[in-house]
Amino acid sequence: MDLGLSGARVMVTGGAANIGRGIVRGFVAEGARVMIADRDRDQLDRTAEDLYASGVPTDRILLSDADLVEPGAAVAVVAAMEDAWGGVDALVNNAGWSVPNFLLKDTDRSRWQRLVDVNLFATIECTQAVLPLMQRQGRGSIVMIASDAAFGQLRQGVYGATKAAQVALARTVAKEFGRDGVRCNVVCPGLVVPESAEEIGAESLWSGAEIFDEAQVASIEKSLPLRRLTSATDIADTVVFLSSELRSRQTTGQILSVSGGFVMP
Ligand SMILES: NC(=O)c1ccc[n+]([C@@H]2O[C@H](COP(=O)([O-])OP(=O)(O)OC[C@H]3O[C@@H](n4cnc5c(N)ncnc54)[C@H](O)[C@@H]3O)[C@@H](O)[C@H]2O)c1
Repeated sequence: MDLGLSGARVMVTGGAANIGRGIVRGFVAEGARVMIADRDRDQLDRTAEDLYASGVPTDRILLSDADLVEPGAAVAVVAAMEDAWGGVDALVNNAGWSVPNFLLKDTDRSRWQRLVDVNLFATIECTQAVLPLMQRQGRGSIVMIASDAAFGQLRQGVYGATKAAQVALARTVAKEFGRDGVRCNVVCPGLVVPESAEEIGAESLWSGAEIFDEAQVASIEKSLPLRRLTSATDIADTVVFLSSELRSRQTTGQILSVSGGFVMP
C-alpha cells in the first residue's frame, strides 16, 4: 500500500532509542525525511550511522540533541526543519520517561516531576511549535505515543496521569485544528522491551534500572489476548499509517492501543 510518505518531513522525538528508533526506521522505509530529536548525543549518532550504513542518504536525516524539556528547544528544532526542508508534515511525540512505582512510594517530587516534564511539557511544547506551520500548510499529522497506563494501571499513577493528559491534548488539537487540515491521534504501546543493547543509550528508561523482571514480562505476555509481546516495529507500523494523509485522512482524535489487546479503549 502506498502511504504517500515519500519525501515527507517528519519529526520524531526520542527517536534514538527503542520505540522511537523503530518509528524512525518505519518512516525512513517509506522514503520520508526524518528529524531525530533525542538528547542522548551518543545514541543519536549511533542511530544515524546505522541508517547511513543501511543506505539511507545523509540528506534525509537531521539530528538534534536538544533537551526538549528546556523552554524554546522545540521551537529551535522545528525551525531547523523549516530551514532545511521548508516545513513539517508529521510530528511524533515519543520522548518519554517512566519508572513504575506505587503511588505512596512515589513521593520524591524531583523524580515524578521528571515524568511530568518529559512526558507532558515537552509534548505540549513540540505540539505548539509545529501547529502554526501545519496551519499555514493546511495539513499535518501529530501522533502522541501515550501508554495503556493512561487508563489506570498498577504502579503507574503519575506516569499514567501524564499519558492521560496526552490523550486530552490530542483530542483538543484534533478539535481545534481539524479545520486547518491537522490530524492528531494517540498510539498506546503495550510493553516493548528493547530487542538488544544497541537499541538504547544511557538516557533510555531501560538503561540501568530493571523496569520489569523476566517473570513479570512472561506474566504480561501470557495475559495478553494475542499471547505475544509488542515490538517497536508493531508501534512504528501503526504510527506511520496514522501519519499518512493519503491513508488516514479521515482519522483524527482517535486512540489505538498496539499491545496485543492488553486494553481495548
Ligand atoms: N517501552 C514500553 O514498554 C512502553 C510502553 C508504553 C508506552 N511507552 C512510551 O513510548 C515512548 C518511548 O518509550 P521507550 O521504551 O522507547 O523509551 P526509551 O527511554 O528507551 O527512549 C526514549 C528516548 O527519549 C529520549 N528523551 C527522553 N527525554 C528527552 C528529552 N527531554 N529531550 C529529548 N529526548 C529525550 C531519551 O534520550 C531516549 O533515547 C515513551 O513515551 C514511553 O512512555 C513505552
